[in-house]
Amino acid sequence: MSKIKERISRAEVDARIKELGKQISQDYADTGVHLVCILKGAFMFMSDLAKELTCPVTVDFMAVSSYEDQMESTGIVKIVKDLDGSIEGKHVLVVEDIIDSGRTLHYLMEILEKRNPKSLRLAAFLDKEPRRVVPVNVSYYGFKIEDFFVLGYGLDYKQMYRNLPFIGEMES
Ligand code: IMP
Ligand code: MG
Repeated sequence: MSKIKERISRAEVDARIKELGKQISQDYADTGVHLVCILKGAFMFMSDLAKELTCPVTVDFMAVSSYEDQMESTGIVKIVKDLDGSIEGKHVLVVEDIIDSGRTLHYLMEILEKRNPKSLRLAAFLDKEPRRVVPVNVSYYGFKIEDFFVLGYGLDYKQMYRNLPFIGEMES
């Protein structure tokens, strides 16, 4: 197994999620929020964030694939699993693991917007802003990071390491 270097500790992750939870709870206090988790990467972020919310919450899940196990997105985004329910008239918060080039989320937000939600926002655990190729409006983010490949806390390298409770980087 390769060596993993810790970049964001479990304690830092926990503390930041608590802050985000407070902010999102306030913003959706009167309306409630419909969380849309983008599988698989966002499953841990979604679960931890949802536990911090004090506003009314419903959840749904969607899986898209843009990487085909490569380290860069191809720009071709495929819906592997669509939402179970309609988002029409709902206050939707898309929960994603990381925004890199922005291709995946730019495309996805366009698709979801066409389904007439009452509002549509994005929460990304990590934002690799310097890598952006396509614009994406990120309403809530956990951490902004530099351009390095991260894994853990839901994020994978060749489907491995999603279970790590911290954000790490592979040491070569
Ligand atoms: P984008 O389309 O380039 O923004 O890529 C977004 C998707 O690529 C994310 O949802 C992740 O699944 C994956 N991804 C981007 N950067 C990383 C990384 O550093 N580690 C693991 N997955 C990544
Ligand atoms: Mg992803």
